[in-house]
Amino acid sequence: MDIYIDTANLDEIQQAAALGILDGVTTNPSLLAREGTDSQTRLEEICRVVRGPVSAEVVATEHEPMVSEGLALAQIADNIVVKLPCIETGLQACKTLSDQKIRINMTLCFQPLQALMAAKAGAFLISPFVGRVDDVGGDGMEIVQQIRQIYDNYGYKTKILTASIRHPQHLVQAALMGSDVATAPFKVIQQVMKHPLTDVGLQKFLADYKKLQESLPHHPALA
Ligand code: E4P
Repeated sequence: MDIYIDTANLDEIQQAAALGILDGVTTNPSLLAREGTDSQTRLEEICRVVRGPVSAEVVATEHEPMVSEGLALAQIADNIVVKLPCIETGLQACKTLSDQKIRINMTLCFQPLQALMAAKAGAFLISPFVGRVDDVGGDGMEIVQQIRQIYDNYGYKTKILTASIRHPQHLVQAALMGSDVATAPFKVIQQVMKHPLTDVGLQKFLADYKKLQESLPHHPALA
């Protein structure tokens, strides 16, 4: 499963990239607004750090303006993936831009039929927002499972990008369900490698080894 980071913060992106596991980045207008800097410049900076897909979202909501904005975003770097919302005009723009070989991430997906339509319109990625569904008492991961089954039934190549991830368990479930990609905030990526038994086990290994060293005659190579 590919792992993307869901942020527009350059420092977080650089730290995640340094872990050696980062396959791409997702941004959205809220994440870019949080940075308080020019969005185009920030996207250029992100695309220099990460060579995998970097999603950049349009803010237009009508077909023609969405297409123009998508074309402009795609000019920023060759790894930009244009993000469009799962609305009727978004679907139209997805078809228009996909026909021009621009990769599209259909975002704000909350039910499997939106994903079916996105695949038919040629989307490269579909983003079910699992955490936001959980937030209102639903089961976000069930939508991922349904999309997986629909795509497999018909052989659609659109990749499922599990988004709006809130905790590591969402990542576990996404991987078990065969989500192609998961995008997570930096905090969740950091949580993944933390386990109290790993910490306790490591401390014990190091303490035992230190005891052994102290019990042996001094060996310069181990000093
Ligand atoms: C994905 O592309 C979105 O940017 C993101 O996952 C939304 O997550 P949120 O529900 O935490 O805002």
